[in-house]
This record gives sequence, C-alpha cells and structure tokens, in this order.
Amino acid sequence: MSPSVSLSVQLGRLTLANPVLVASGTFGYAKEMSSLIPLERLGGIVPKTITREPRVGNAPPRTVEVTAGLLNAIGLDNDGIDSFLSEKLPYLRTLRTPIIVSVAGRTAAEFEWMAQQLDGVSGVAAIELNISCPNVSGGIDFGTNATTCEKVVAGVRKTCQLPCFVKLTPNVTSVAEMARAAEAGGADAVALINTVLGMSVDWRQRSTRLGNGMGGFSGPAIKPIALRMVYQVAQAVKIPIIGMGGITTIDDAMEFFVCGATAIQVGTANFFHPTATMEILDALPAAVASLGATRLTEIVGTLAFPHK
Ligand SMILES: Cc1cc2nc3c(=O)[nH]c(=O)nc-3n(C[C@H](O)[C@H](O)[C@H](O)COP(=O)(O)O)c2cc1C
Repeated sequence: MSPSVSLSVQLGRLTLANPVLVASGTFGYAKEMSSLIPLERLGGIVPKTITREPRVGNAPPRTVEVTAGLLNAIGLDNDGIDSFLSEKLPYLRTLRTPIIVSVAGRTAAEFEWMAQQLDGVSGVAAIELNISCPNVSGGIDFGTNATTCEKVVAGVRKTCQLPCFVKLTPNVTSVAEMARAAEAGGADAVALINTVLGMSVDWRQRSTRLGNGMGGFSGPAIKPIALRMVYQVAQAVKIPIIGMGGITTIDDAMEFFVCGATAIQVGTANFFHPTATMEILDALPAAVASLGATRLTEIVGTLAFPHK
C-alpha cells in the first residue's frame, strides 16, 4: 500500500493537488500529449509561451541533440494570443488540471496587455511571465535587469488579478538578485531555470548546427546548474520556487524539493520519456515518507548545507 502523504502545495494564491507540472514549450498545448499520459493527474500544465502577435520563429534547424541534453532555438513560434484563446483554451479548460498560461511581451506594456486579456478568463488558473527566452532578439531583456524585471512584474500585478509566476533565466551573474526583483514586484512564485545559452558546432563545415547559431541548452546535463540556482534563490526570497532543469526521475525531483523547490516542472524529458511525470508522481509518496514526512511541504528546503 502506498503511504498516506499529502502532496498538495501552495504557490502563492494558487493551490495545486500535487507539485508535478510540465514545462512550457515541451508539452505543446497538452492535446498533443493526451494519448500518452492521463493529463488530469498532472499538478499543472504550462502550455507553450504565447505572444501578442503570431510569430513564425527561427530558421531551421531549430533543435539539435548534444551530449546529455538538447539545444533549441525555436524563437517563440506561436499563433498569438487571439488564436490561443479561440483555438487552444477551449480544449485546455475541459481538463481538470490547472492551466498556467505562459506569456512573453516585447515591452512592459505588452506584458500588461496580455495579462489583462487573460484576467478572469475561464480555464486560466495563473500566468507565467516568460522574461527569460534566450532565442528571441529585440525588446528589453527583462530577465537580466533587476530594475526592469521588478517593473514588469509590478505592472502585471496592478492590471491582473491572476496568480503570477515569473520564469527566470540562468544566463545572469546573480539569479538571486533577479528572484528578489520578481518578489519585490509582487510575484506569487518564481520558476527556474529556463535554458542555458549554448552552441553546437560542426567544425568540418565550420558552421553552427542550429539555424539561429546559438540556442537554449536543456535536459539532464543542466540539472547541477538548476539545483545550484534553486538553492541560491531559496536563500534569497520567501516566495515559493518552481524548480526545473533536467528533471527525469523521482531522485531528480526529490533533489529539487530538498534544495528549496515547492513544485517542479518536467521539460525535455517529455520528449524522450513522455511518462516521466507519471513515474515521478507514482514514486513521490514513498520517497517523501522515506524521509519521515507526511506532507511534501515538510521536506522543501531541508538540505543539510553547509555541512556542520
Ligand atoms: C524545445 C523547447 C522549447 C521551449 N520553449 C519554451 C517556451 O516557449 N517558454 C518557456 O518559458 N520555456 C521554454 N523552454 C524551456 C523549458 O520550459 C525549461 O525551462 C528548460 O528546458 C529546462 O528544463 P528541462 O531541462 O527539464 O527541459 C523550452 C525548452 C525546450 C527544450
């Protein structure tokens, strides 16, 4: 019999039945994955980031496999918010799983406008501000400047009642500083990490393998970076952390929880092992119980470090 362990978590104003979510850009708009796993078991779904206008994205090739990970430069290819509301949301709102809509704007005003469009819309449980996509040029880099980060979050909070998560980039000197800025702006939670800026090169051709040249590195290889950043952010802010970066197994997930993540998102693993989230969920009660806890929240941030 599986032990009786409470998996429910609170991410600011949003309560989730369990802490296992899927990461933006790695799960389409959920319908694509519905034949592979029972979507209602997920703690939450973050669909592919949407923008105000449709975007065609970057030149191909857009993905390339590298050692222990994936490099991508999709360039936020999406059909825009109007199409999301009319074509994708009607299906998403039928799911008994909270939908956290990921949005990206080129300006603070555009972030606010998009948040307003989603405010009060049936089927939208929260928004995730993608201030951290490494594959798009133009616009202000909200994810790497603490002042503009705080401003954009505060602007969204003023115009929108939805719980607001802020997705942070690892491509900064101090991720803790960015997390503090998101918290000061009024974020309900921070989500980290987005992809690590990288490159893959074919030396014989003297060319880059991605059409865009550089791209975002994800998958098992980035887990140590993500764990370090989740730990640092947990020391810096009081708001909950949604941890991600390379999570594939129950052990990966537990490492993030003890480092300070209240919830996790599974990303690249959805491509090479689509049932990873279900296996993590199945194993979670026993793993939590093995630490002598009856609630998942009891183990969050309990890493014994520095060693005494
Ligand atoms: C192909 C691909 C597309 C992605 N698209 C998005 C996106 O649209 N918005 C976003 O916030 N993150 C996007 N990400 C980043 C993931 O959500 C996640 O932050 C990152 O991949 C690290 O987690 P992982 O190692 O488990 O994949 C994308 C990642 C991949 C691999």
